[in-house]
Amino acid sequence: MARFGTALFSAFALATRGVCGAITLDIDDSVSVNSAAALVAQDLLSFYKGDEAGEVPGILPGPPPDGDYYWWNGGFVWGSLLSYRRGTGNTTHDATITKALLWQVGPDDDYMPPNWTASMGNDDQAMWAMPALLAAEMGYATEPDEPPWLTLAENVFTEQTHPGRRVDEGGCKGLLRWQIFQFNNGYDYVDSGSNAAYFNLGARLAKLTGNDTYAELAGATYDQLWNLGYISDDYDVYDGASVPDCDRINKHQFSYNAGMLLQGVAYMYNQTGNETWKDRLDKLTDRTLEVFFPDGVAVERTCESAETCNTDMTFLKGLLLRGMSSAMQQAPHIKDKVLPVLKSTAKAAVAKCIGGENKRMCGFSWANGTSHGTTGAGPQMSVLDALSSIMEPQAAVSSGNGTSTTDGNTPSSTGDSSPSGTSTGKSAGARTEIGVSAVILLLASLAHAL
Ligand SMILES: *[C@@H]1O[C@H](CO)[C@@H](O)[C@H](O)[C@H]1NC(C)=O
Ligand SMILES: *[C@@H]1O[C@H](CO)[C@@H](O)[C@H](O)[C@H]1NC(C)=O
Ligand SMILES: *[C@@H]1O[C@H](CO)[C@@H](O)[C@H](O)[C@H]1NC(C)=O
Ligand SMILES: *[C@@H]1O[C@H](CO)[C@@H](O)[C@H](O)[C@H]1NC(C)=O
Ligand SMILES: *[C@@H]1O[C@H](CO)[C@@H](O)[C@H](O)[C@H]1NC(C)=O
Ligand SMILES: *[C@@H]1O[C@H](CO)[C@@H](O)[C@H](O)[C@H]1NC(C)=O
Ligand SMILES: *[C@@H]1O[C@H](CO)[C@@H](O)[C@H](O)[C@H]1NC(C)=O
Repeated sequence: MARFGTALFSAFALATRGVCGAITLDIDDSVSVNSAAALVAQDLLSFYKGDEAGEVPGILPGPPPDGDYYWWNGGFVWGSLLSYRRGTGNTTHDATITKALLWQVGPDDDYMPPNWTASMGNDDQAMWAMPALLAAEMGYATEPDEPPWLTLAENVFTEQTHPGRRVDEGGCKGLLRWQIFQFNNGYDYVDSGSNAAYFNLGARLAKLTGNDTYAELAGATYDQLWNLGYISDDYDVYDGASVPDCDRINKHQFSYNAGMLLQGVAYMYNQTGNETWKDRLDKLTDRTLEVFFPDGVAVERTCESAETCNTDMTFLKGLLLRGMSSAMQQAPHIKDKVLPVLKSTAKAAVAKCIGGENKRMCGFSWANGTSHGTTGAGPQMSVLDALSSIMEPQAAVSSGNGTSTTDGNTPSSTGDSSPSGTSTGKSAGARTEIGVSAVILLLASLAHAL
């Protein structure tokens, strides 16, 4: 990951001011938006080696020290490329996406592949269920003899519903723990990330399947997050707290938590037409815009201006933007306030795609005209999300229930790809993996110490 020196970047910015970096963009012209996104998508995949001989499909290079990225970052990237696919209908990357999403499903079709199991949190697993569910929602083609996308997402949700994954006593009884295994750091932490992801999956599964159980479970999770103050009276979404009572809340706000909740709340409102859900949606939308878009451009508030975001944190704005875009589709009445901000974000973000050898790699900090930003898969993915977030979903790729449909754009994924649902590799050793929440946990213990 390369970090621009301030002086160097300023010179860059001066030289290119008004030129919109190396990528030209007319934000109100869908053809221009699609062309810009095609370049950003291509550059995003330059970080991915999983289609090369001897490399593992689905994951970005890592985990540290072998590369910058953790397992869950892969799930984020495929969701981003699927959103781009949905907005443009561009099938170029289908084979890559399909192979990646199927390679990592694991022997039980639940995104628990043995290579990665030992260090896996509920959030990590959910970050792969999300793109599978998106694939189901958009009617993305299922491969013959492979599990349907919907099944994969349902399997993850069902496992996470199980009491074994949850706190069994105290004030936060019933919520999902961050970590799946007791021997991992963070087993006693109950994070918004895991629970908001579960809520998000449940709300969306309810709509896709019509099964009310999903909506009930999602609703119960929302109520509990609310009652514990994870979602404040002002609709701030805090990071988490520790067992047994989850009463000392770590008040850091990360954008993906708000994004996942917002999307789920919009899905709940869409299905119920219930005024309570509408009220939650409207307030959460307003607060999210205030907190994460101070000048109409998305900011990772906890770390961006202080330049303390780690690699993981550079991915989070992507999920925020995806969530807001989807919320706007589910609840068109918020479009008037959300779409202009998504547009100003996309415009500012693409203007920072001026780095790297090709002079168009995207930076992380979009809000300030001259501020510098980190490049990497996270920023690149998030800029792709910024562009996809303003695209209209293509009608051709939506379908009834997404179980095994194709969308008419025959995917090119049958040829050279050989997705395998099973992993043959050795099982996981004792990896010490520090995902996003681990860092947050450190912040949490720091907060406790203060
Ligand atoms: C589809 O994506 C590819 C790869 O990014 C790009 O070369 C091509 O121009 C895109 N097609 C359209 C119509 O944007
Ligand atoms: C609805 O979903 C729940 C939870 O996954 C499941 O137990 C139940 O069998 C489903 N009901 C139907 C009718 O499919
Ligand atoms: C609307 O949703 C809320 C929260 O789930 C619930 O308490 C209320 O009973 C619902 N109202 C109606 C009319 O269904
Ligand atoms: C933008 O620049 C202003 C002034 O230098 C600074 O106060 C602010 O924190 C910056 N915002 C971000 C998101 O970097
Ligand atoms: C529900 O979502 C669909 C898109 O899936 C949208 O067309 C419809 O207008 C939404 N309904 C409401 C009441 O907002
Ligand atoms: C849902 O999928 C099943 C299995 O593919 C199919 O039989 C059914 O017609 C679909 N329902 C809708 C509403 O598309
Ligand atoms: C597991 O690791 C082996 C050995 O590196 C590799 O060949 C295989 O593709 C990996 N599988 C997954 C699901 O990551």
